[in-house]
Amino acid sequence: MQEKLEQIRRAIGEGIGDTGSRKELFELKMKYLGKTGEISALSKGMRDVPAEERPAMGKLVSDVRAWAEAQFAAREEELKKEELKARYESEKVDVTMPARFTETGTRHPVNIVKKEIIECFEGMGFEIYEGPEIEKDYYNFQALNIPADHPARDMQDTFFITGEYLLRSQTSSGQIRVMEKKKPPIKILSPGRVYRSDSDATHSPMFHQMEGLVVDRGITLCDLKGILDEFARRLFTSETKTRLRPSYFPFTEPSVEVDLSCHNCGGRGCRICKGTGWIEILGAGVVNRRVLENCGIDPDEYTGFAFGMGLERIAMIKYGINDMRYLFENDVRLLKQFRD
Ligand code: DAH
Repeated sequence: MQEKLEQIRRAIGEGIGDTGSRKELFELKMKYLGKTGEISALSKGMRDVPAEERPAMGKLVSDVRAWAEAQFAAREEELKKEELKARYESEKVDVTMPARFTETGTRHPVNIVKKEIIECFEGMGFEIYEGPEIEKDYYNFQALNIPADHPARDMQDTFFITGEYLLRSQTSSGQIRVMEKKKPPIKILSPGRVYRSDSDATHSPMFHQMEGLVVDRGITLCDLKGILDEFARRLFTSETKTRLRPSYFPFTEPSVEVDLSCHNCGGRGCRICKGTGWIEILGAGVVNRRVLENCGIDPDEYTGFAFGMGLERIAMIKYGINDMRYLFENDVRLLKQFRD
């Protein structure tokens, strides 16, 4: 038995050194210390040992068991450390490596100017109204004092869906929808898409407009001028001036075309303002009495002004883009130049 113990001791001593993982170590441990393991078998075999030798033998077996347990525990600690080290090694992060960047999107230039204009007018107390893109002839034309066969219809090559419905050709339709529902004081700004059968370097079949409408007692063209001056300074430079020129729109009387002093050359004349020092930016005027009447607003009590501008045009002027089609190609090389 003593010999057997010695053999076991040697086998464990050698076997432990060869184990490369805690799983292997466990298997080895079971082989000797498990319920049916070799050391356990020796304990059971004590029955056959003569009674007088039993205490000495029992001690030898339990000494080997204690020694073996200590060996396994020590090796287990070692393996734990090795495994942790290997894990650290494999999960090592080089914090000095350059990071991988994901590209973030940018706002489209048309949306940048839209946002800036909205912020500017909201600051002056305007509310936002958005009307439908599929519109009735009545709201797009008739109620705006453009009856069927009126020559002003020719200026807006309209996509008709049926005789009654069309794709709105101007956000001015929103003026009527607002005035039908709300009585003065009215102060709204209405952004949206509009459609015209037109396509070249400065026209697109779909583009964006921004409409403004103010109706209250005692509103005059001077109020319009004051608000537009503020708008021009906010959107372009603090030196930008506005100039009103007489024009014609059926829904305003008088009507004006509004120019801005060129933000690029300050009015001296350059490529952007085609040497004139001024850039045409929007149409506006005093709301025609007939339009107020069409909406059930008494034109002897209330007056108002309205204006409408093309957002692509404003973006082109502001950013010096000379072909509107660039705004619709969505080439990221162009788009990512704009960050707001
Ligand atoms: N709706 C006009 C257009 O599309 C722009 C316009 C001019 C709007 C004068 C207005 C205005 O509200 O008063 O050309």
